[in-house]
Amino acid sequence: MDLHTALLERRTISQFKPDVPDSEIINRAIEAARWAPNHRFTEPWHFYRLGPETAAQVVQLNTELVKAKKGEEAAAAKAAKWAAVPVWILVTSDRSEDALKDQEDYLATACAIQNLQLSLWADGVGCKWTTGDVTRTKELPELCWFDANCERVVGLLMIGYAAEVPPPVRNKDLPQISVDLP
Ligand SMILES: Cc1cc2nc3c(=O)[nH]c(=O)nc-3n(C[C@H](O)[C@H](O)[C@H](O)COP(=O)(O)O)c2cc1C
Repeated sequence: MDLHTALLERRTISQFKPDVPDSEIINRAIEAARWAPNHRFTEPWHFYRLGPETAAQVVQLNTELVKAKKGEEAAAAKAAKWAAVPVWILVTSDRSEDALKDQEDYLATACAIQNLQLSLWADGVGCKWTTGDVTRTKELPELCWFDANCERVVGLLMIGYAAEVPPPVRNKDLPQISVDLP
């Protein structure tokens, strides 16, 4: 798949087949991620690959949040959906007391996530980048072995083969967002 095809055809995937992508594909995606641009070569990113035990704890934590917000039924539906995700990766970025560095590192890590998503897509694997409530809980750092004083979450990634690819949605066309200056 050429780069432009991947850029245009990648879609966020929410429904996954049960098959687990080979670790070779996941490794290649993380390798692609670390070649994202980053100012001053800070390489601020961390990729926490959740094993079954950690994934189950994150699913449970999220289920409790949904239950408190939306009730039992919604929580059960979300639990089933999240339990069916084949691969989870939590991506964090180093924090800095220097506000500019902190922002640049956060942006670089977002670029890294997109590299990762595109690499997966080129290998036929889908991904969903989430920044839902669970990513802001005080429990998540402990579950995923990172120090919230030193790193912040940029995304929790759900990864697997697409059971369904949603149609593309963009509400603005090129002339609305692209300005030719003199
Ligand atoms: C920073 C960021 C956070 C996101 N968080 C969520 C999320 O919490 N839940 C969700 O369903 N999708 C989330 N998404 C995925 C977007 O909803 C998705 O990219 C958007 O619908 C466009 O679809 P596409 O990626 O297929 O073009 C997030 C995307 C980004 C870039």
